[in-house]
Amino acid sequence: MFKAEPFINEKIKAVEDQVGDGKAIIAVSGGVDSMVCAALASKALGKNLLAIFVNTGLMRKDEPEEVRDMLTEIGINFKIIDAQKEFFAALKGITDPEAKRKAIGEKFIRVFEKEAKGFGAGYLVQGTIAPDCIESGGNGKKTIKSHHNVGGLPEDVGMGLVEPLKDLYKEEVREVARKLNVKSSERQPFPGPALAVRCLGEVTPGNIATVREACFIVEDEIKKAAKAGKMKLPWQYFAVLLPVRSVGVRGDERAYGKTVVVRAVESADGMTATHADIPGSVLSAISKRITSDMEDINRVVYDITDKPPGTIEWE
Ligand code: XMP
Repeated sequence: MFKAEPFINEKIKAVEDQVGDGKAIIAVSGGVDSMVCAALASKALGKNLLAIFVNTGLMRKDEPEEVRDMLTEIGINFKIIDAQKEFFAALKGITDPEAKRKAIGEKFIRVFEKEAKGFGAGYLVQGTIAPDCIESGGNGKKTIKSHHNVGGLPEDVGMGLVEPLKDLYKEEVREVARKLNVKSSERQPFPGPALAVRCLGEVTPGNIATVREACFIVEDEIKKAAKAGKMKLPWQYFAVLLPVRSVGVRGDERAYGKTVVVRAVESADGMTATHADIPGSVLSAISKRITSDMEDINRVVYDITDKPPGTIEWE
C-alpha cells in the first residue's frame, strides 16, 4: 500500500542527488500535480528552485490570482509571466486537437527555456504522473492524447528532466499533497492545455472567454447543489464549447447560437470513467443560467458517455 511519508523522504533525496548544486525551474499551474511537485522539489532545492506560473490566457476564472496566493503561502521562490498574446498567436488557425496540444507544449517549453537561461537552471522539474505517460504513448503503447507535459516536449529541450511523481496515480498525489499541506489537494483535475481543449475548433480570446464563463457556471451550480445535499461532488465537472450552431428563439426573434456541453465524471485515476449522475433540477439550473447569462449560447447538452469509449476531455 502507498505511504506518503516514506515517498516524500525518498523523493527529496532523489531530487537532491539528481540536481546536486545545480539550479532547477518548475512550471506550476495551480493543480495538485504541479503544486505538490513544486513543494517537494523546494524542500530539496530551496532557493535553487524557481517556480514559474505562465498566464497563458487559457486558465479558468480567477485562477491566476489564486495560484499567486497559493505560491505565496507555500513560500517558494516564484515568478509570474504574462504570455497571453504569445499563446493566442501560436494557436491561431489551429483546429486539430493534437496540433493544439503540440503548439501549447512547444510554447510552454520555449517560455521555460528563456526563464531557465535567465535563472541559470540546468534542470526542468515536471509534475508528470503515471496516466500522463501511459496515454501519451511510449513503452510500445499507442498515443491517445499528447499530454502537454510529455508529448509536447521537443527533443531539444536542453535541460535535464526531473519527474518525481511519474509513478504515482492521482489519489496518491492527493495523499502526498495532504501530508505537505498543499492547498490544492482536493482540487479537481484540470488539463495542461487548459481551456484550449475545452474549446473545439479554433482557440480565440472570445471563444476562451465563453468557455471560461460556461465552466464557471457549471462548477458553481454543481458545488452549490453538493453543498445543499442534492448530489455528491463528482470527480471532475466542467463545460465544453462546441462550434456547432443550432436554431433557437429569444423573445420573438430567431437565434442561431453555439452549443455548450455539460461534462461530469466519476473516476479513480482518470484512466477510466463513468458519466456522473447530475439530478435533473441541477441540470436545468445550469442550462437556464448559461442561456440567460450568455447571449451566444442557445443550446446546452449533457454528455453521458463513459471512458472508454469517450475520453474525459473532448480533445
Ligand atoms: P482524458 O481526456 O485523456 O483525461 O480522458 C484524463 C484526465 O487527464 C486530464 N488531462 C490532462 N492532464 N495534461 C494534464 O496534466 C494534459 O495534457 C491533459 N489532458 C487531459 C483530464 O482533465 C482528465 O482528468
